[in-house]
Amino acid sequence: MKSISVHAEHEYRVEVGVEWRERLQEVVSRHNKVMIIASENIAQISGLTEITNTSAQVRLTLIPDGENAKDISVAIRMWNELGAFELGRKDAIVALGGGTTTDLSGFIAATWLRGVDWYAFPTTLAGMVDAAVGGKTGINTDSGKNLVGAFHSPRSVFIDLSFLASLTDRDFSAGLAEVIKTGYIADPEILHLLASHPSVQGARSVDKELITRSVAVKASVVSQDFTESSLREILNYGHTLGHAVEKLSGYTLRHGEAVAIGLVFAAELSVSLLGLPAKVAVDQISLLKCFGLPTTIPKEQYSWEEILTIMMGDKKARNGELRFIGLEEVGKPGWIAAPDHNLLKSIYERIAI
Ligand code: GLY
Repeated sequence: MKSISVHAEHEYRVEVGVEWRERLQEVVSRHNKVMIIASENIAQISGLTEITNTSAQVRLTLIPDGENAKDISVAIRMWNELGAFELGRKDAIVALGGGTTTDLSGFIAATWLRGVDWYAFPTTLAGMVDAAVGGKTGINTDSGKNLVGAFHSPRSVFIDLSFLASLTDRDFSAGLAEVIKTGYIADPEILHLLASHPSVQGARSVDKELITRSVAVKASVVSQDFTESSLREILNYGHTLGHAVEKLSGYTLRHGEAVAIGLVFAAELSVSLLGLPAKVAVDQISLLKCFGLPTTIPKEQYSWEEILTIMMGDKKARNGELRFIGLEEVGKPGWIAAPDHNLLKSIYERIAI
């Protein structure tokens, strides 16, 4: 087991390589009441109902898979269920599922009684390396993704690698986009590891090291800038355009797939504005392709005008000016503020087919 600590509004540990049932039993024994919020697709997992049935003080509630979980109607249902269960200030919420489950559950924990303890048990690669770590919680609204939310760190994050076996290759690859992002902004060793295991199966064989390294980067960044006043923005490499494409797809693209397209765009922008060697952008495309990730924008589906409109509404835009995270070189992120819209459009045209 590897344990990585995060210093945020409180200190907590991310444990990689644990057995989730053991840790869940410990959480249950530590609190009077526990509400487990689990995504529907893992509801049948062996052991969950046994733990839930051990006591009337443990309640299991299911939420939809994917972005449908991060909806105000689901949040209202959770608040009503917590009210009926009379979950109090010393009680806790457990999130068991992918990134959307931990985002929603953390938000419910942040808002219930103005904040109760919660524990994250991520079951997807994207959840393990990104969503469950760092204390960003929230829901989506018509205005955009994650515009309503709170910083509210979990008490612990427990990563059981056995969940990854049930992930489709598509979902595993989508998680790899965040791993690749992490390699480019801060840990080139991740890129070497992936380049020497250039297939989904290959990456699966080194999952523990990829996850431990990615979590270590995220933990370090979050510990230095929990509320994203500056440094934490580097975790948004690939996300400015990525979020726009994801929203335009009606969330049919996985978050990581949209981020992969965003990484291609941000690298091209970096070549133009931050002096990134063009070879890095080319190599990044090759690496993304090894894992079946998209590297072009289908222009029939995603027009530049629509992408631009959504990006301007993103929380990363400030005072009507777009902001991107780019790269000066591998492992050295840079900030791009208010880039020329003609340049952005010309990059779109290069990667849209
Ligand atoms: N997903 C980016 C962050 O947690 O800041």
